[in-house]
Amino acid sequence: MNKIKILVTGGTGYIGSHTVVELQNKGFDVVIVDNLSNSNIEVLEGITKITGVRPAFEQFNLCDTEKTKNFFKKHDNIVAIIHFAAFKAVGESVEKPLIYYRNNLDSLITILENIQSNSIKGLVFSSSCAVYGQPDELPVTENAPLKKAFSPYGNTKQIAEEIIADFISVNAGSRAIALRYFNPIGAHNSAFIGELPLGVPSNLVPFINQTAIGIREQLSIFGNDYNTPDGTCIRDYINVVDLAKAHVIAVERIIENKNKSNFEIFNLGTGNGASVFEIINSFEKVTGQKLNYKVVERRAGDIEKVFADTKLANDELGWKSEISLDETLLSAWNWEKFLRFKI
Ligand code: WQD
Repeated sequence: MNKIKILVTGGTGYIGSHTVVELQNKGFDVVIVDNLSNSNIEVLEGITKITGVRPAFEQFNLCDTEKTKNFFKKHDNIVAIIHFAAFKAVGESVEKPLIYYRNNLDSLITILENIQSNSIKGLVFSSSCAVYGQPDELPVTENAPLKKAFSPYGNTKQIAEEIIADFISVNAGSRAIALRYFNPIGAHNSAFIGELPLGVPSNLVPFINQTAIGIREQLSIFGNDYNTPDGTCIRDYINVVDLAKAHVIAVERIIENKNKSNFEIFNLGTGNGASVFEIINSFEKVTGQKLNYKVVERRAGDIEKVFADTKLANDELGWKSEISLDETLLSAWNWEKFLRFKI
């Protein structure tokens, strides 16, 4: 029987590569498009080692309308698309807003144009809890009012959701699901793929790993004077494999026409918050590594506390996070050791 073909844009990236693994494990035929601006082609080897299948791969920029159009002519049997490709560094987006708006929104619009002209069933879109800003109520539900985004990055996610909603409203034949991730962390338990931040990591867990393995001298904790139990910010850290599995469920929902509406939005988190110190303590416990850190001033743009209400994804997608924080941090550490020492 012919396999169902899925396009994964940004599929050599962190969440994209883990999603390709889960798609191939479920028997889907995957083609990846990535411009390798923030990922490494070696990731294809890791995916192949884990699944035994090397995904088709094409390298080009999805803002290039001609190349994208030709791609869809060649791959004329794509049933659905999971769209990860975007720039995602919060701090960089503040320094280079136009690059973020151009890249993140042009690529989405090009994808939507090709969904329309190739009668593709639909799109799963990589969104983010960044769209909520600092919620008034916690846990935050999908109906929470979206506040002004704290960064151009977060704003591109808010605008992207609006573009998709407007597109779907006049293209009833297509359907879309936006997945709002909280804080993705960890790695596949094979340690063959994981998070590959280029340069100095801005995110907490990769910085912790690089400090523990000796690449970074010391972890800076950005403030311990917040209104939280231990003074550090609270986030909802979600295992990347659990996150990847939710994408497979979402794309199957679109293919099998199970959507309750043509554009659905789901939070993907654990429903629990963890502080920076709790992450550090858990990391030290499961790895036996003593972390060198110091408390410094707050980082501009950080919100104090956010974690997900996961009821909608639990009820509608039949999905919930399953891998514990301890296991997740250990998987991140095992990946870091494989990355640096191939052990
Ligand atoms: C987590 C906590 C920091 C680094 C962002 C985006 C979000 C998603 C994930 C893309 C905060 C603290 C961090 C460090 C620290 N990105 N921290 N020292 O900012 O919650 O979320 O990345 O999808 O959309 O907004 O993640 O890991 O940067 O920070 O103390 O060296 O760790 O202050 O409290 P963030 P983060």
